[in-house]
Amino acid sequence: MTDLTVHLTQNDVLRGLRSDVLTGLAATPKTLPPKWFYDARGSELFEEITRLEEYYPTRAEREVLADRAGEIAELTAARTLVELGSGSSEKTRLLLDALRAGGTLQEIVALDVSEAALESSVAVLRDAYAPATVHGVVGDFTQHLALLPGGAPRLVVFLGGTIGNLVPVERAKFLSALRDDLRAGEWLLLGTDLVKDKDTLVRAYDDAQGVTAEFNRNVLHVLNRELGADFDTSAFEHVAVWNDQEEWIEMRLRATRAMRVHLPEVHLEVDFAENEEMRTEVSSKFRPARVSTELAEAGFTIAKWWTDRLNRFGVSLSQATD
Ligand code: AVJ
Repeated sequence: MTDLTVHLTQNDVLRGLRSDVLTGLAATPKTLPPKWFYDARGSELFEEITRLEEYYPTRAEREVLADRAGEIAELTAARTLVELGSGSSEKTRLLLDALRAGGTLQEIVALDVSEAALESSVAVLRDAYAPATVHGVVGDFTQHLALLPGGAPRLVVFLGGTIGNLVPVERAKFLSALRDDLRAGEWLLLGTDLVKDKDTLVRAYDDAQGVTAEFNRNVLHVLNRELGADFDTSAFEHVAVWNDQEEWIEMRLRATRAMRVHLPEVHLEVDFAENEEMRTEVSSKFRPARVSTELAEAGFTIAKWWTDRLNRFGVSLSQATD
């Protein structure tokens, strides 16, 4: 039993799913936003992905944070850590431990769309970081940045390369909204996966064990459960392609036969042609110059830029510009 601030009820979440499905399945090509992967099973599968040999981003980012957490704590002297996403991750704990050791940590804010995920991470954080105050906020980081609690200076952390799920216009909107909610001098720690050779990228999103394929198909299980849909999930193949123009990985689900799918709870029937592909995720990869341009355009000044030893993943620490 935790006290959460709810900007988004589970009913709002369901309305968002319905609306995304109506829009995405009516589009050509069909699309579904990646945020719908993450029910309990999808979150477990993602955890499993982070342990795969092929999936380097988690390990590469962890390497940077393990090396730099002390420096980040010292530079920011943050009183509040705001995590966009779960909040109990091992990587966040590296930062929290360093802020506590530096003696500045007083408050922790965890923002997540999933009330259930938040309940457990807030409980874990309260236990581990008492007497720091822990606020759990149920919300969507693209909609509910305003009114983030916590005393200044705040350090907002957005890790894992999740910003790569947004296309450039969405990123610009998100980063500007975040800047608007911060006071000059407050901090953003942002993880961005870097452009690299195509084989490494495709392997990371198409692992030999097929965990990513299962994760991809999980969105269909979510639609079956939440919307009473009748997707035959075994009739969809996982596809991961590198889009060289946009510099992002695209995950798709390819129908292996023609079929009609019913989604009674949104009063929709959709036809898939044999080999038709539906896009389920973009995961943008960045060049360092692009990260600094996008941050600068949104009103942030980069203070530090680090990468792992193999130059696979970038972590930027920036400050809301005056
Ligand atoms: C959680 C969005 C950072 O894009 O790499 C992993 C999700 N998709 N494998 C990513 C994901 C396929 C992941 N993010």
